[in-house]
Amino acid sequence: MRNHSILLLTLFFLKAAVCKPITKNEKKSFNKLLVISFDGFRWDYDQDVETPNLDYITKEGVKAKYITPPFVTMTSPSHFTTITGRWVEEHGVIHNMMFNPETLKKFSFKETQNKTEWWDNGVLPLWITAQNQGRKTGSFHYPGGGANYSGQSVYRSLVESFSHPDSNETEWRENIDIVLKWFTEENFDFVTLYYGEPDQVGHLKGPETEERRTIIRQIDRTIGYLINAIEAHNLKDKLNVIITSDHGMTTIKKAPNVEEVLLSKYISFKNLTKFDIVDYGGHGMILPKPGKEEELYQALKNAHPHLHVYKKEEFPAHFHYAKNDRILPIIVYGDLGYNINGRFIIYVNKGDHGFDNNYMDMKTIFRAFGPDFKKNYLAEPFDSIHIYPLMCKLLGVNPEPNNGSLAFTQEMLHSTSEPPQRQSGLTEESTFVAAIVLSAVLSILVVIFVIYVPYTVIKRRTRSNQEAEQKMDRRTQPETNF
Ligand SMILES: *[C@@H]1O[C@H](CO)[C@@H](O)[C@H](O)[C@H]1NC(C)=O
Ligand SMILES: *[C@@H]1O[C@H](CO)[C@@H](O)[C@H](O)[C@H]1NC(C)=O
Ligand SMILES: *[C@@H]1O[C@H](CO)[C@@H](O)[C@H](O)[C@H]1NC(C)=O
Ligand SMILES: *[C@@H]1O[C@H](CO)[C@@H](O)[C@H](O)[C@H]1NC(C)=O
Ligand SMILES: *[C@@H]1O[C@H](CO)[C@@H](O)[C@H](O)[C@H]1NC(C)=O
Ligand SMILES: [Zn+2]
Repeated sequence: MRNHSILLLTLFFLKAAVCKPITKNEKKSFNKLLVISFDGFRWDYDQDVETPNLDYITKEGVKAKYITPPFVTMTSPSHFTTITGRWVEEHGVIHNMMFNPETLKKFSFKETQNKTEWWDNGVLPLWITAQNQGRKTGSFHYPGGGANYSGQSVYRSLVESFSHPDSNETEWRENIDIVLKWFTEENFDFVTLYYGEPDQVGHLKGPETEERRTIIRQIDRTIGYLINAIEAHNLKDKLNVIITSDHGMTTIKKAPNVEEVLLSKYISFKNLTKFDIVDYGGHGMILPKPGKEEELYQALKNAHPHLHVYKKEEFPAHFHYAKNDRILPIIVYGDLGYNINGRFIIYVNKGDHGFDNNYMDMKTIFRAFGPDFKKNYLAEPFDSIHIYPLMCKLLGVNPEPNNGSLAFTQEMLHSTSEPPQRQSGLTEESTFVAAIVLSAVLSILVVIFVIYVPYTVIKRRTRSNQEAEQKMDRRTQPETNF
């Protein structure tokens, strides 16, 4: 009798300690993830507007004081850093425009969205990596989501049409409804959702305007709509949400207040340049005519006190920008607020970006909430490159090689005892710990049983054998039932 019971307890011990962590893989140990990007949301845009819903998610989740986008502070390069965890020079999407200096062709931001050859440079974005590890992913207007990577496309991908309105609040809400249905009705695991505001208003009207404050109120109402919709779809305990952006915005300095940068004052475009990308905010690139590089460089180098001019090889390494074949031989950028004008001043924007990512005006937002995030947690500023390993961790996905680190973001999460880069989720880890604790308790029970039973048998020797056996049967009964 006694040996039989101990054997069963031992079997239970083994089952708990060994079998649980192996069979766990079949059950989902991660939550769903929605990443929303509001283009050009400067880090402090919520500080001069009432934003009750952003305030609510700060209380219910995580807020970073600000985050630093990569250089160049532009939409496609920065979004692609977020979704790949790679510096811009490594993922190769170095500008919003796709261009070919041989054919002199340029393609606009929207035109590039269907052009795999611009995005697919050997670095896999998270959608594809997650899909290859069994997750169902989607991209709603997110830059890069419409391309193929190593021949694979994102399972569900909507690309912004050319006529897409940027600020239709009804359409914004519809997009939230669509995405939440992907999660609930089609069991998506990971979706990225993109909005073109407040970037558009920031460019057209400038960041320090009532129009910009108005669009922030609209964004805040949309976040309120999202919070309610998450509840209505019963996703509150299953969905993590990250709200972020790609860069900030600054007011462009114009004559007569300042002397604007106009490159044709210092160089002859006809004589010196073969191809250029200028008139595009705070950053530009030039391909000199053969043999003209030094002349062009010397003519520009000290031309304007607020113009920075570099040969590609000498561009500061900390920007992680210039070591890419697509970068043209001469890189220029302006001090904050100085647009790079080329031949004429045709530029009309009131606000722009593309400047040094060290300026506070280029910093952007990071908010997060959901079951895996701490509540009311204020995170220190970090580089947006670290969002990638965080997303992998949340989705239980093994990251690709990347330039980010979980060390900058893991404090936002509930339990951080796990080492980074593990594929198994938190729940599995806890199961294993629970199994060990349970096993220890059972071992003690076994010891007590082993000691107690002979003692009882001796004490009750006067009773009949039958009685003693019945008693032991009862005692062992519950243990034999599991
Ligand atoms: C992208 O391709 C889709 C499908 O072919 C098409 O409907 C859409 O207009 C294209 N969008 C752009 C921006 O080229
Ligand atoms: C992606 O690949 C699919 C299947 O090969 C193809 O039909 C589609 O046109 C490709 N899309 C792009 C944007 O290259
Ligand atoms: C805004 O979007 C809604 C829903 O897509 C549409 O019905 C409405 O016509 C749009 N409004 C404008 C002004 O474009
Ligand atoms: C450009 O080249 C032409 C012909 O070589 C020359 O006449 C002209 O002075 C040059 N202009 C500048 C601004 O260097
Ligand atoms: C970025 O990550 C890639 C892939 O791990 C690596 O090859 C590269 O050296 C990293 N770059 C930097 C600047 O650390
Ligand atoms: Zn942008």
